[in-house]
Order: sequence, then structure tokens, then C-alpha cells
Amino acid sequence: MQKNILITGGAGFIGSNLAETLLADERVGTVRVLDNLSNGHRKNIAPFLDRSDFEFVEGDIRDFDTCLAACKDMHLVSHQAALGSVPRSIKDPRTSNDVNIGGTLNIFKAAEESGINKVVFAASSSTYGDSKALPKREDVIGSPISPYAVTKLVCELYAQVFSTLYDFNYIGLRYFNVFGPKQDPNGPYAAVVPLFVKAIMEDKAPLMHGDGLQSRDFTYVGNAVEANVKALFATRPDAWNEVYNVAVGERTTILDLFNMLKETSGSSLNPTFGPTRQGDVKHSLADISKAKNYLGYDPSFSIKDGLEIAFKWYKAQYLAKTI
Ligand SMILES: NC(=O)c1ccc[n+]([C@@H]2O[C@H](COP(=O)([O-])OP(=O)(O)OC[C@H]3O[C@@H](n4cnc5c(N)ncnc54)[C@H](O)[C@@H]3O)[C@@H](O)[C@H]2O)c1
Repeated sequence: MQKNILITGGAGFIGSNLAETLLADERVGTVRVLDNLSNGHRKNIAPFLDRSDFEFVEGDIRDFDTCLAACKDMHLVSHQAALGSVPRSIKDPRTSNDVNIGGTLNIFKAAEESGINKVVFAASSSTYGDSKALPKREDVIGSPISPYAVTKLVCELYAQVFSTLYDFNYIGLRYFNVFGPKQDPNGPYAAVVPLFVKAIMEDKAPLMHGDGLQSRDFTYVGNAVEANVKALFATRPDAWNEVYNVAVGERTTILDLFNMLKETSGSSLNPTFGPTRQGDVKHSLADISKAKNYLGYDPSFSIKDGLEIAFKWYKAQYLAKTI
């Protein structure tokens, strides 16, 4: 039987890439997106709007009735909606809390009340907080160092508690710095890859926070989508009610990231350096063996391949002035 899947936040970066992949999967019936377009864009889902197996509901996960209506006739939920960005959560922790915690609680409860007993949700590597251990293993976390990290940790706690109280199974995917096509380069909370590409396209020196030697496990969105699909269709019972790192398992400094983009684009720009950002961790690197073992996750894209695909996509958008 084909599965109908609700994707919250499906007009956003990761959610819209996931929607595209699920729509091409023969195991999937209808894909329904619930998004309030606060940070996502209609253009991200425009190619699917005319399809009979795609539905778009413009609505807010902070409203429980909206969540209930969105769950109707669905078999699985992929919960991606949230307000991302550490700096945003420092500036306005209350709104991040309302959306990320209140909204997640609504989606979990609406799924449970609708008889949907499998929910995959976007967790975050920020949950590792101040833990200095490298590589990051799922069972060793520190204390959160930003309101955003608190919200993502609380989502994991709610998922765990729901799985013990109700007929509710979850998989939490702790993404590590995902990048790729459709990630927004505009606005005050844009992520580093689209910001660097924007700088290159506009021939303006990019700003690096700190010395540029902070490192991240940059993950091409195709890998994050693969993890989501593997999770949604996970058949091993012991794969459920667990959280997993979603990354490549390689560490790249911000300086090296920029140099890779320079090579890909042929740019000769050099960065400028500014103060370090509050709430940022210095190094991040994932151990991905748990996702490999339980979900059969096997990231297909290296960071270099991903950067090449992403740069090509952004360049086409800038040339067409659609970004
Ligand atoms: N991109 C990353 O590197 C990364 C890393 C760790 C975790 N995550 C998590 O992954 C998920 C997807 O992130 P993304 O990078 O695609 O971000 P995104 O901002 O592009 O997508 C999030 C989507 O959620 C929607 N949304 C926000 N508030 C909403 C609300 N109240 N009701 C309905 N929809 C709402 C936005 O409009 C947007 O389309 C988020 O939960 C994020 O916290 C992302």
C-alpha cells in the first residue's frame, strides 16, 4: 500500500528537496506540505503544485487544529518545520520556542490523535551543545549553548516521552550543517554556504566569524534527503524511537569551505574576518555509524560534489535573477 506523507516545513530548503524525492518514489501516494511560508518559499514547491499527488496547505504549526487537519488521511509525518538559526533564537527566543517546541508538540499530538504512529523529525547537531567530544556520538551530549539548541533538545525529549506514553514511534535526525539547492541566501539568518556563494556571485569579500578555523561536518542536502527516506521506510523495529546523526563524517574548516568554493567558481576573492558569534560551537564532526547500521544510511555525496552541484544551481538562479 502506498503511503501518504505529510511534510511540515515542506516549502523550506530541506523539506522541498525531500518532497521532490518522495514524489518520485513509488512507495508514496500523496505528499502534503504544511508550511506558513515564514521562511520557506512558494517557488520551492511551484513545480509540484499542479500534480494530483501533491497538496499544499498554507498554515501554522502553532495552531493545533491546523495540524490535526493536515494529518487527516496521512500515514507518515516528516516534521521539518522550525525556525532555524542560532542568532535568530538569541535575538528572539520566545518565537523560536513557540514554533520549535509548541509547534512540534502540536504535530506530535495531532499525529497521535490521527492514528499516525510513525513520525520522522528534524533534530539538530546543536543538541551536542558544549560537549567537546569528537566525533559526536548520539549518546554523548553536553548542555545546550543557545535557545535554538534548547528547542531541538526538548523536541527529542517530547518524542521520547510520547513513545513511552502513546502508540507513537519516532526517528530524530540530527542534521549537521546541511547545504544545497534551495537554501536561502537572503535574510539576516542565511547559512554559510549560500552566503559565500552570494559573496562570490556579487564579487564582495565574505565575512568570516572568528579565525575561520572553526570546523563543521558539512552535509549535502541529497544526503539529508536520503536519511529521511530511509527513516520513513525503516523496517527494523529497533531503528525506531532513536535519534541519528545525519552527516558525512568529515570535518572541514570554514576557511577550507571557502577555498573549495573559490576553486569551484574560479573566484579570487579573499575573506574578511570579524568577531566570533555567540552560541557557536568551535568544532563539529559526526560519527555516522549508528545511521549506517540501523537505517542503512550511506551518504552518496562528498562535500566537494555537493558544493559543485550547489554552486551550479545558485549560479543559474543568479543569472536568471530568480534569487
Ligand atoms: N539546514 C541545516 O543545516 C539544519 C541543521 C540542523 C537542523 N535543521 C532543521 O531542519 C529543519 C529544516 O531546516 P531548513 O534548513 O530546511 O530550514 P528552512 O527555514 O528552509 O525550512 C523550515 C520551513 O519551516 C517553515 N516554518 C517555520 N515556522 C513555521 C510555522 N510556524 N508553521 C509552519 N511552517 C513553518 C518555514 O516557512 C520553512 O519553509 C528545521 O527543523 C531545522 O531546525 C536544519
